[in-house]
Amino acid sequence: MGGACQRAPGANRDLISRHAHADHPIAAPLGDTSVHRLLQRALHRADARALDLGCGTGEWLVPALADYPGVRADGVDLSAGALVRAGERATELGVRDRLTLHRKDAAVFRAADTYDLVLGVGVTHAFGGLLPTLAAARTHLAPGGQGLVGEGIWECEPSQEAVKMLGEFADLPTTVDRVVADGWTPVHGHVSTRQELDDYEWSWTGSLASWALDHPDDPDAEEALEAATVHREEWLRVHRDVFGFACLVLRRTAG
Ligand SMILES: C[S@@+](CC[C@H](N)C(=O)[O-])C[C@H]1O[C@@H](n2cnc3c(N)ncnc32)[C@H](O)[C@@H]1O
Repeated sequence: MGGACQRAPGANRDLISRHAHADHPIAAPLGDTSVHRLLQRALHRADARALDLGCGTGEWLVPALADYPGVRADGVDLSAGALVRAGERATELGVRDRLTLHRKDAAVFRAADTYDLVLGVGVTHAFGGLLPTLAAARTHLAPGGQGLVGEGIWECEPSQEAVKMLGEFADLPTTVDRVVADGWTPVHGHVSTRQELDDYEWSWTGSLASWALDHPDDPDAEEALEAATVHREEWLRVHRDVFGFACLVLRRTAG
């Protein structure tokens, strides 16, 4: 998302992301109940084929496969470590045979088939913004298919520092207006609660810091603790009161 996930420092991004998400595997500010409710609205066929662009550790696809035995899914991500974890989770829940994982750039991923549901949560930066993400999703959608996108929003006017840190977002009505003008109709949505936003950030910073404190002799411990400290300070001082997150279930308005 525009927050924690892509702001982990470059070289150790995978390592930091793994420890930061240890206690909150979904890399977005949503609780499990919200994920299940959104999936319920987004998966509108018992035999749906789902594609997750930027699937991370499979926090959307694995529950979808576990809850809906007729669903098949493809996940695309650049992170080898995240894909390994997604495969492990799918195996743990007995759904690995219905999940195909691709280590690819989601922006250039092409598939022979189309999908009834295309997800892209917290990954719009990889496409250059929300509307390019929707354009990519559209190329994968079967007729009548639905999109499920998760994007940062401003809860109030951001400071320049917040924009510089997190990127360009809009408030919820403007975000929805842009999506509608692009030819989509929202058929469901979820705006992360303050509790979900705080849970995500406390968990990200706290799990990472705990790992560093538990492994003082690890060569990455110092950098991890520093990353957790910097992130916590930026969150509390710069963006806790302005950053929000919205997930939208979308259908093409026409065609
Ligand atoms: C904020 S995380 C969200 C993961 C997942 N959607 C979730 O909600 O838990 C963003 C994910 O996008 C992946 N990613 C970033 N750029 C990508 C790209 N160009 N192609 C594929 N995956 C990408 C990252 O590796 C990371 O797993």
